Amino acid sequence: MDKFVVETSPNLQGSIRVSGAKNSVLIIMAASLLAEGECVIEDVPNLLDVHVMIDLLRSLGSEVHYDIEKEQLTTKVIDPTITDASYELTNRMRASIVVMGPLLARRKRANVALPGGCPIGARPIDLHLKGFRRLGVNVEIGHGYVEGRVDGDMHGNTIYLDFPSVGATENILMAATLAKGTTIIENAAQEPEITDLASFLTKMGANISGAGTSTIRIKGVEKLKGVRHQVIPDRIEAGTYMVASVITKSKIFVDNVLPTHLRPLISKLEEAGVIITPEGNGLYVDARNGYKGVDITTLPYPGFPTDMQAQFMAMLTVCEGVHRIRETIFENRFMYVNELMRMGAKINIDGSSAMVSGVNHLEGAQVKSTDLRAGAALILAGLVAKGKTEVFEIHHVDRGFVSIEKKLQSIGANIKRVQG
Ligand code: UD1
Repeated sequence: MDKFVVETSPNLQGSIRVSGAKNSVLIIMAASLLAEGECVIEDVPNLLDVHVMIDLLRSLGSEVHYDIEKEQLTTKVIDPTITDASYELTNRMRASIVVMGPLLARRKRANVALPGGCPIGARPIDLHLKGFRRLGVNVEIGHGYVEGRVDGDMHGNTIYLDFPSVGATENILMAATLAKGTTIIENAAQEPEITDLASFLTKMGANISGAGTSTIRIKGVEKLKGVRHQVIPDRIEAGTYMVASVITKSKIFVDNVLPTHLRPLISKLEEAGVIITPEGNGLYVDARNGYKGVDITTLPYPGFPTDMQAQFMAMLTVCEGVHRIRETIFENRFMYVNELMRMGAKINIDGSSAMVSGVNHLEGAQVKSTDLRAGAALILAGLVAKGKTEVFEIHHVDRGFVSIEKKLQSIGANIKRVQG
């Protein structure tokens, strides 16, 4: 089994380039199922999850070509009659559920294996289904599958989400593009990935307003066409490299970012005393004078992202004082804390809160990624731990970070991938 071997890396410097956003590209690929004609997607990161989505699109009748060098993906629906997404594929990636909206919209039926639990919590899809039902879809669950059927047409409606779920907002938004009449999603998620999806759909001919706010209005259209689209940069990957600079008290340039999408992170790092200076398409992160601890509460965008919680935890483990991290999005997102504690971190978990008491130093240890972002946090911890850290189960990391070891090596980090 592959592992990362990380050693103390006191002085990072240079520039690191952020790839296209995983959470955007997966949904945009799913949305290509709506197009009559070819879609060309640019800045597609070479990630395990992208390859799973390619397999899924192919199994649903799309012809897909992915040029890894050019980071360009071309996809076209050849057979629009397939409506079953198999367990073998959907089980490999939770985000697969977002094919349901496009399938219902264009093919009037979708039979998708129910996503199971995952290491960060139960992750139900009730809000997705509530939205579909409000649009007139008959939804039935049985034998591990969820089946949606539309008799006649879907009809626009007002849908209030009890929680601003990213996936539910995306799925309902895609389903509503071809429904008759107007759909209003209230308490919609406002994440930048929603805005990116809406801009892709709008180019395709959809009529959408309000994406990026809590109320999205979609006026159904007859059909959507194939288009070319460039995916936004990955704000979580950017944030992870920003924390790499901070934890090692270095100065690096993080290239290819949209600072507005990073506002919650920039503001927290500035509160910690880090100097952030935007320049061109990137920003300098200067922590050479050290950093102070901060308290964090994860929230839906524009609050602090849950996908950066673990990386900030790593940063706080070696920071003077006691600081609190509250996780409000996922019920079980502190699993990796035990791994940090094996490296000498002092963390007390009480329900959804973690109290982090800074220690002088961490010690290298053998640890395992429990999920994608946790794996990144363990690598960050390894950069400042004394001695060697071996991070196992790195397939989680490969799901969402493009060549993380090569990118970190390019700014002077002591990390290598060891095949085993
Ligand atoms: C997306 C991101 C993920 C990120 C998360 C929150 C993708 C592929 N993944 O996941 O990286 O951590 O947003 O920013 O974009 N919930 C329900 N019922 C539902 C749907 C969600 O109760 O029908 C709950 C979930 O269990 C969770 C919370 O809502 O506690 C947030 O989930 P959601 O916003 O839907 O996240 P995802 O779209 O799964």
